[in-house]
Amino acid sequence: MTKAIEVALFLHLLGVAVWIGGMVFANFCLRPALGDLTPQLRLPLLEGVFARFFNWVAASVLVILLTGGFLLTQYGGAHAAWPLHAMAGLGIVMMLIFGHIRFAVFPRIRRAVQAQNWPDGARAVGTVRRLVIINLVLGVVTVGTAVLSRGL
Ligand code: HEM
Repeated sequence: MTKAIEVALFLHLLGVAVWIGGMVFANFCLRPALGDLTPQLRLPLLEGVFARFFNWVAASVLVILLTGGFLLTQYGGAHAAWPLHAMAGLGIVMMLIFGHIRFAVFPRIRRAVQAQNWPDGARAVGTVRRLVIINLVLGVVTVGTAVLSRGL
């Protein structure tokens, strides 16, 4: 049983690393480096990058949910310590924001690229950027809550 908890925690943290690491790379490395490209080059490139990255995030979300749910049952379920409930709550908000990015904003980028409507595409990319920054902050707060509250 103990091993099951360790394996679940390992997968949980792997999912967190992929998701948060990908957001850091996209926001602080990729985005600034594309600043000089014309929208005609930048937006189709970003569409291809997002399509792939969002598949990785979707897989991470699934793993985080399954392992987090399992771990929560092992740590007392409804009676678990408050930081674990805070993590679950923050995690679910992050997942809802990701769902909005993937299913509401990303299709706008796809449509704009197909129609070569660069101003619309740029606006939608700006929305993704703002929502990713929010998720990045929530992600850091969640990791902080999970780790710094140990032993409370
Ligand atoms: C549905 C959402 C989630 C649930 C139910 C959940 C639940 C849990 C549980 C029960 C543990 C074990 C706690 C322990 O070993 O003391 C854990 C560990 C952890 N979780 Fe989550 N989690 C969720 C989402 C997230 C998210 C979104 C992040 C980060 C962005 C995250 C980061 C962590 C970290 C860093 C640990 C290790 C904490 C430690 O061992 O000190 N979790 N999670």
